[in-house]
Amino acid sequence: MEKKRSTFTGKVGFVLAAAGSAVGLGNIWRFPYLAAKYGGGIFLLVYILLAVTFGFSLMVAEIALGRKTRLSAIGAFSSLSRRFSFLGYLASAVPVIILPYYCVIGGWVMKYLAGFVTGSSAAMAGDAYFNTYIGGTWEPVGWFLLFMGITAVIVLLGVEKGIEKVSKFMMPVLIVLILGIAVYTICTMDGALDGVVYYLRPDFSKFSVMTVVAAMGQMFYSMSLSMGIMITFGSYMKRDIRVEKSAKQIELFDTGVAFLAGLMIIPAVFAFSGGDEAALGQGPGLMFVTLPKIFASMPAGGIIGAAFFLMVLFAALTSAISLMETIVSIFLDKLAMTRKAACLLVFGICTALGLLSCLGYSVWSGVRIIGMQILDLFDFLSNSVCMPLVAFATCLFVGYVIKPQTLIAEIEKSGPFREKRLFCVMVKYVAPVFTLLILLSSVLDVLGIVKI
Ligand code: PFF
Repeated sequence: MEKKRSTFTGKVGFVLAAAGSAVGLGNIWRFPYLAAKYGGGIFLLVYILLAVTFGFSLMVAEIALGRKTRLSAIGAFSSLSRRFSFLGYLASAVPVIILPYYCVIGGWVMKYLAGFVTGSSAAMAGDAYFNTYIGGTWEPVGWFLLFMGITAVIVLLGVEKGIEKVSKFMMPVLIVLILGIAVYTICTMDGALDGVVYYLRPDFSKFSVMTVVAAMGQMFYSMSLSMGIMITFGSYMKRDIRVEKSAKQIELFDTGVAFLAGLMIIPAVFAFSGGDEAALGQGPGLMFVTLPKIFASMPAGGIIGAAFFLMVLFAALTSAISLMETIVSIFLDKLAMTRKAACLLVFGICTALGLLSCLGYSVWSGVRIIGMQILDLFDFLSNSVCMPLVAFATCLFVGYVIKPQTLIAEIEKSGPFREKRLFCVMVKYVAPVFTLLILLSSVLDVLGIVKI
């Protein structure tokens, strides 16, 4: 029995929906802290090179796979080759790892929004505020549950469209705000220009294999690749919309927002710390420590801070919704259950996993697994292990099982495919070797077997 699949109306609808899922905390929270940690300009350069070659090819492949089969990840792979059914399951496991800790960070955003709204902006600019907050057992848990609860209610009621409408308006405002904050910081704060140089000038002495590992993981995460999402989006795409052009637009948009977020945060880190290694390498807390300081120094900073965190909250919500929707629809497809039961189940699983991440900063702050804090471990597992593995297997699948020509034919149904050669070379040769090397080196590195 073939169910009729609903499709996006028009080109803009597809690109905007995919971009709404892609642009989220990955761009605003994760990209800047990785860029700060892994050498600034060199990270940016590696990221862009990866995005236009590898990211582009993978995005095109995933969208085309979805559009060809009209199925989500599990169905798409198994309908083309039984032997590769496992790949659909592996890709689908990634959102289950990401969503819980995504909601933990979403909770941090809500807490900061509430702080700005209630006039605590001065306190939040204090050095120890963030660490004290995440170390305070139950409050972060409460915000995490609230963020996830809102996401679950939206998914349960199926009212995503309303949120997406609001966020279409919020997104341009967010971009203007990010730009404004960047310009303000660079023009008014001593030392910020050094940060701009650090961010924009590649320093090759800072290059290491870890730069590539981190940039690649970030690219998957940010563009929602290697987790079945783009396959699902492709399955809703009409045949007259150009896959190649859409992929380029989504990439440009996603990378553009990440680039601006880096320009907002990295110069500020320099202004406040003079580019101190410890401040640059501070990791997940970077945005939450640096931004309140900028807002505290601005006229009307409290209002701007509140507006900023509100926009970030919407960007985070649209991404969390698409993550949760993906997991719910997998359960609905595979297990005979109602939507309500599926939402409850996902909520339960994510609460358990999210609690681990949350309490990893308080009750279990001493716990280190392969040298990592719990949230970092989930992040590492999804971005540096599962996604490269999925990308590697997807390339083998496209390159050698169904053959690139199958997808090229699908893509050419809607017009010429200009980067056909790049696509073939990437999926057949470069990307598989590359992902495998990256995967091995990151795993060997954390296990302490090889130091890279
Ligand atoms: N790409 C999102 C971000 O950068 O925040 C994260 C994400 C959202 C991944 C939705 C997957 C997804 F389905």
